[in-house]
Amino acid sequence: MDLTTGNVECAKAPIGVFDSGIGGLTVAREIMRQIPNESIVYFGDTARLPYGSKSKETVTRYSRQIVRFLKTHHVKTIVAACNTVSAYALEMLEQESDIPVIGVVKPGAKVAAATTRNKKIGVIATEATIGSGIYNRYIEELNHGVTIWEKACPLFVPLVEEGLLEDPVTDEIARRYLTELIDLDIDTLILGCTHYPLIRSTLGRIMGEGVTLVNPAYETARELKEMLAEKGLLNTEEPKLGSNRYQFYVSDTTEKFIRFANSIIKYGILSARQVNIEEY
Ligand code: DGL
Repeated sequence: MDLTTGNVECAKAPIGVFDSGIGGLTVAREIMRQIPNESIVYFGDTARLPYGSKSKETVTRYSRQIVRFLKTHHVKTIVAACNTVSAYALEMLEQESDIPVIGVVKPGAKVAAATTRNKKIGVIATEATIGSGIYNRYIEELNHGVTIWEKACPLFVPLVEEGLLEDPVTDEIARRYLTELIDLDIDTLILGCTHYPLIRSTLGRIMGEGVTLVNPAYETARELKEMLAEKGLLNTEEPKLGSNRYQFYVSDTTEKFIRFANSIIKYGILSARQVNIEEY
């Protein structure tokens, strides 16, 4: 797609959003809220989830396939709505792509760097994101002298996948993970995994009122809107009544995804299609 002119036809094209599974729906939801005229093609790699415990090479290969798939839908831009992809593969995707690609890590880091008062920030994320040190790097660049503590919380993803959003088990595990961050007196905590905003109330209760929780999804949607406006790619046309603006694709069976997506995105009858992503 030639986006150089930022013409009306390009602006009408959908936004491609992808994640390893359902977590990226928290980002899609924010895009729907903040730029409601936009169409979205969402891909959740439910057959190959989790990404958070996989190698950089594997996550990069998966991401390339998904980008190729999304491009068959003539998307005007791509949002890597997964922290692990943003940490491991974003640079490569940006370099290889002829359309803008944005991730979720930079926007989250930006808000956290601007939010902290005592210059003590915590980051919770998957093992891959924490291992990459990417939040540390970005925040350091933005706000010198900040101390950052990072903590991998691998059990949060399966807890969310199981729907245990408000549950004593989630509470107990969150307490174990977060105690050291509370003791370190952080005042800002980045929810550095797309699943974590779904257990935000549990995390907020445990961290206490003095800690600001940063949800990169909100900031990502805001930056996306800004970027589209700058490039003349914002869709100004209001959606026609009954038009199917949101399309969902997954790499595994659709039932569980649909159930989950319906509980996150109060959009009504949501359908999804299964694709063989290895073909791309
Ligand atoms: N979506 C991933 C992320 O934000 C978490 C789930 C996974 O490990 O695949 O890092």
